[in-house]
Amino acid sequence: MARDLAQVVIAPAERWVEEAAARIAGGLEASVVARGWASIALAGGETPRPVYQRLAAMTLPWNKIDVFFGDERAVPPDHRDSNYHMAAESLLDPAGVPLARRHRMPADAADRTSAAAEYAEQLPERLDLLVLGVGRDGHTASLFPGSRAVRETWHRVVPSESPVAPTLRMTITPPVIAAARARLVLARGRDKAAAVSRALEGADDPEQCPVQLARSGVWLLDADAARGLVGTAA
Ligand code: 6PG
Repeated sequence: MARDLAQVVIAPAERWVEEAAARIAGGLEASVVARGWASIALAGGETPRPVYQRLAAMTLPWNKIDVFFGDERAVPPDHRDSNYHMAAESLLDPAGVPLARRHRMPADAADRTSAAAEYAEQLPERLDLLVLGVGRDGHTASLFPGSRAVRETWHRVVPSESPVAPTLRMTITPPVIAAARARLVLARGRDKAAAVSRALEGADDPEQCPVQLARSGVWLLDADAARGLVGTAA
């Protein structure tokens, strides 16, 4: 069962943001100590925003940390739907992350296929830390259930399409998730409970539940997102 692989951490609601930020900071610091450098790929959506805001207040060697993205929407970097825009507002700008360390995923490029291939060349062979969210349908990054992207085994970054707007996307693929040295899945709130429960305790079916690709990672949940898990008090 997928849950056997996951390290499930259930944090009290009032500690969830702090716990998430501390885990990201700790992972990055450990990588810089171990290898003199660190690489992270950020999740988009809204869940990580307060975590990134808390992370921005922590002291980290950002000149030694390359910041990538797990996925992006096909919108300009200053668009309200842009994952880069959310990260820049909440983390990159307030933390003073050097522009040279920021690697925006160019989902708004005219030729998304070529742009995806170029971005894949920038990605390290193994990300030190991959931060992922959970969609209510079990998607993660912009790997949606039943999509061609979730079946990709060769290209590391590809164009993708979302069933909900913004539809045109770009995303890392399963090989990048598998190769990451550490995976941190962030989910909170009752609306994620079904997807979390299915991902960790349902049948193994990453094509229909793409966030299962991160099952051998740390899943940081609040009690609401964990409510569907067996043995978790409702
Ligand atoms: C995106 C994200 C996506 C996100 C989930 C959850 O571009 O939308 O990368 O994978 O993590 O959709 O989104 P929320 O955190 O907003 O619920």
